[in-house]
Amino acid sequence: MLTALFVSCASAQSEERLKACAACHGADGNSTIAGTPSIAGQPRIFLENYLVMTREGIRGTDVMQGLLKGVPDRDIVALAVHFSKLKPGTPKEETDENLFRRGREVAAKNRCASCHEKNFQGREQMPRLAGQREEFLAEAMLQYRQNRRPGGDTLMAAALYGIPEADFKALAHYFSRLK
Ligand code: HEC
Ligand code: HEC
Repeated sequence: MLTALFVSCASAQSEERLKACAACHGADGNSTIAGTPSIAGQPRIFLENYLVMTREGIRGTDVMQGLLKGVPDRDIVALAVHFSKLKPGTPKEETDENLFRRGREVAAKNRCASCHEKNFQGREQMPRLAGQREEFLAEAMLQYRQNRRPGGDTLMAAALYGIPEADFKALAHYFSRLK
C-alpha cells in the first residue's frame, strides 16, 4: 500500500517536472523560444551530464536549478533518456545560401565534425548541433570564446581558437539548417 502510494507520488512529480521542461523547451523537445535550445535528439550522455551539473548548480538557469534540486540520479537518467529519444525538428526558417556555404567551409576547415559527427548529430558528451536554434548556437560559441559559458568544456574554447567571431554567425546558420 505504502509503496504504491510512494510510486504514484514520485511519478506525478516526474510528470510535473516534464511539463515544466516542456513549457520552455517545447512539448516535443523543440524550442520555439529565442535563446532556449532544443533538446530533442541530444545524445543521452550530454543530457545527463548537463542535467547533473545543473542539479549541482554549475550549469543551466536558476529556474532549471530549482526544478532539479535534489532530484535523484535515476530521475535525471529518465529525463535524459526521454529527450534523447524525441525527434529533432526540421528547420523552418529560410536559408541564406551564402552564409550556409561559408559556415560549411569554416566547419570543414576546423574539423568540427571530428567530435560532433559527420551530420552534426552529436555523440556521447558531444551535443547535437544539427537543427539547433541559430541564435542559441551563436551565443554559446561567443560564451566559449570569452570563457564565460557556465560549466562549459574548455575543449570548445580550444576548438574555436583562431576563428573570427564574424564566422560564428555563419557556423550557427549552417548547423541550424541541417537535419
Ligand atoms: C524557464 C525556462 C526553462 C525551463 C523551465 C527549463 N529550461 Fe532547460 N534551458 C533553458 C535555457 C534558457 C537554456 C540555455 C542555458 C544555456 O545557455 O546553457 C536551457 C538549457 C538546457 C539544456 C542544455 C541544452 C544544450 O544544448 O546546451 C538542457 C539539456 C536543458 N535545458 C534541459 C532542461 C530540462 C530537462 C528541463 C526540465 C527539468 C528544463 N531544461 C527546464 C530554459 C529552461
Ligand atoms: C575535441 C572535440 C570537439 C571539437 C573539435 C569541437 N567541439 Fe564543439 N563541443 C564539444 C563538446 C564536448 C561540447 C559540449 C561542451 C559543454 O558541455 O559545454 C561542445 C559544444 C559545442 C556547442 C554548444 C552546443 C550546445 O548545444 O550546448 C557548440 C555551438 C559547438 N560545440 C560548436 C563547435 C564548432 C563550431 C566546432 C568547430 C570549430 C566544434 N564545436 C568543435 C567538443 C568539440
